[in-house]
Amino acid sequence: MENPNLTNIKVWDPLVRIFHWSLAFFFFLAYIVEDDLIGVHTYAGYTVALLVSFRLIWGFIGTPYARFSDFVTSFKAVKTYLSQLFVGKTKHYIGHNPAGGLMIIALLTSLIITTFTGMFLFATEGHGPFGGTFLSQLSEGPLEDIHEFFANFTVFMVVIHLSGVIVSSLLYKENLVKSMVTGKKLINVKTEENADENI
Ligand code: HEM
Repeated sequence: MENPNLTNIKVWDPLVRIFHWSLAFFFFLAYIVEDDLIGVHTYAGYTVALLVSFRLIWGFIGTPYARFSDFVTSFKAVKTYLSQLFVGKTKHYIGHNPAGGLMIIALLTSLIITTFTGMFLFATEGHGPFGGTFLSQLSEGPLEDIHEFFANFTVFMVVIHLSGVIVSSLLYKENLVKSMVTGKKLINVKTEENADENI
């Protein structure tokens, strides 16, 4: 018999889901094509910058679980969460957990630095949105290094991000990837302390 306490709740709104999968696609498109297809690389990069800008706004005015106030916590909360994770005693979060929240901020920050240094680099050749500014006087060497470093750093963090998604999915026997597609999570309203907070 089905557990009557289990209920499907809407966690990720359509804009968060479109944002996420478009971000993953355009980031890797820009990363893979690199200088070989500079036109594709540049437009994929602009798309990433627009997606991140949207997410920054949505973090303040979006649906309850999409708001920064729902998942940005203190370092202490992240530390507590991670130490409890090792002994398998963490509280279940309907939205992003504290470690996931920190990872999202780190990813968005790294993406902002990557996309802006990319645009500044393009400006040194007189192209792009900053092409006509003082940036066209700069030498490209250091900018190129920073741009490359943060693109690779983002990939490194995506690997940690995916590991976190796998660990969390296994720990709570839930399919987080499916939730990021459907927007829904199956929640036990009896055991979930904050289940009714944002429903
Ligand atoms: C196949 C690759 C990927 C998979 C399967 C995946 C999966 C997920 C899942 C399941 C979540 C929700 C986590 C939760 O429930 O707390 C999430 C969130 C997120 N992921 Fe990914 N991810 C992928 C690639 C990426 C990439 C490449 C980036 C960035 C470059 C990224 C950035 C993010 C961000 C920013 C969020 C927060 C979503 C939001 O609240 O707007 N992901 N991802």
